[in-house]
Amino acid sequence: MDYNKLLENIHQAILPYAQEGKAADYIPELAKVDPDQFGMCIHTIYGEVGAIEQADTRFSIQSISKVFALAMCLSIEGDNLWKKVGKEPSGTAFNSLVQLEVEHGIPRNPFINAGAIVMADILYSHLEHPHEDFLRFVHEISGEESICYNKQVALSEREKGYLNAAIANLLKYHGTIENDIEDVLHFYFMMCSIEMSCRELSKAFLVFANHRKKFDYAGITLTSSQVKRMNAIMQTCGFYDEAGEFSYLVGLPGKSGVGGGIVAIYPLQYAVAVWSPRLNSRGNSVMGIKALELLTTETQSSIF
Ligand code: DON
Repeated sequence: MDYNKLLENIHQAILPYAQEGKAADYIPELAKVDPDQFGMCIHTIYGEVGAIEQADTRFSIQSISKVFALAMCLSIEGDNLWKKVGKEPSGTAFNSLVQLEVEHGIPRNPFINAGAIVMADILYSHLEHPHEDFLRFVHEISGEESICYNKQVALSEREKGYLNAAIANLLKYHGTIENDIEDVLHFYFMMCSIEMSCRELSKAFLVFANHRKKFDYAGITLTSSQVKRMNAIMQTCGFYDEAGEFSYLVGLPGKSGVGGGIVAIYPLQYAVAVWSPRLNSRGNSVMGIKALELLTTETQSSIF
């Protein structure tokens, strides 16, 4: 299959949607990114690659980092993780506080902000050097040592991060997180600030697509069953209150970020990443969803 051609055709077909949506501006540094950029890259488990447009431009991966955090937390905590965070879809916005109060400080799932802040706390407690260790794990699964945090993005998010601070306070009040609130928030914002390209993301996510391969990176090990279950959580919770729509349109497990990136996995076949900063009202990339909908339709590669 000529993957470059396939992706080029998809890009051409979705051009009419290029001006739909609006890039995230609640993180001041993200508002500076040119919203009219587009990149896409697919890696198959057989070593085939397709990459178009700005597939090599790095962008802020934001919530996509929560998948890496989940892999580390599952490796460290095993099923004990589920005492501190649930695994049900939330049906609410990624930054919502509503359920967290009603459900006594236990976040619905690891991918909403509340759940990811709990994971940041767990990693902060267990890792000897949280910032370095997290980055080392990302380096190992992507095979790319030059990936790093963008501290300016992290600090700019903290400046306006009133909602996440409220979430962290509620979690602390209920005893779900144990470390200092500012330390946990800083680590959470740093994880979100990591910059990767579509090529790097799709290569990194091959480790989740290929669950039969031994998972052992930077001391983080997962069983094949744990990797499969991570995909299940991506399927049900990866797109917040749009998880149902993404399942319906695309039919693959995946994860989005407000930087405009989306990564999706076709188990035992491929991982694909797409980037376009303009978001819909749910915080997910408009062109990203369109591109993946076409990809799975054209290649008949949805899991359903
Ligand atoms: O905490 C936040 O709001 C951001 N750092 C991450 C949110 C995000 O990426 C949601 N994804 N679509």
